[in-house]
Amino acid sequence: KLGDLSLILLAYLIGSIPFALVVGKLKYGADVRNFGSGNLGATNSVLVLGKKAGILVLLGDVGKGVLATSLPALFQSNVNPVLIGAAVILGHCFPIFAGFRGGKAVAPTAGVLIGYSPILFLIGYMTFILITLVTKYVFMGSLSIGVSLMMHSLYMGDQALALVFLTFSLFMVYLHRKNIINFLANKEVRINDKRIKEY
Ligand code: G3P
Repeated sequence: KLGDLSLILLAYLIGSIPFALVVGKLKYGADVRNFGSGNLGATNSVLVLGKKAGILVLLGDVGKGVLATSLPALFQSNVNPVLIGAAVILGHCFPIFAGFRGGKAVAPTAGVLIGYSPILFLIGYMTFILITLVTKYVFMGSLSIGVSLMMHSLYMGDQALALVFLTFSLFMVYLHRKNIINFLANKEVRINDKRIKEY
């Protein structure tokens, strides 16, 4: 039986596995962070490495979230699930195995929600798909995930969960600050653009 702190640390380490970096290195011997948006995630991997490699990265990054949520049961611990979720997401965004320059939380958060609450996953990621398709901007879809889940939590009368998703939403705005600045300067790439954005 591992202590709570060790489990949180383990979740962080799982989150730190940089699938976009690994797939990019294996495929082209290149660091995905030197291309496109410079983000270590599935969106940039699709643009830089292609669809198949991007889907591989997506599955790996979602898998990290799912795996982390299974840790408490695996190690018979009743550690706070929010801390496990936060740790794997922070690992993905600030990976110890990749110089703390990682991704923007979308895929591992999907995994965490799939593990904890498929209903919340559906609400958050159907909103993500809808907003991305309507606005044609992935970052807007990404920002809408936390907002939709915060509104849902308030509607259900769960103030504590609403606070978790408010914190998540603010964190997402911070992670997407470059996308927002780019968008305001009319430079953010839309999903139907062929070019790869350069920062
Ligand atoms: O999937 C992350 C997305 O929200 C933004 O990524 O590469 O467009 O900066 P990117």
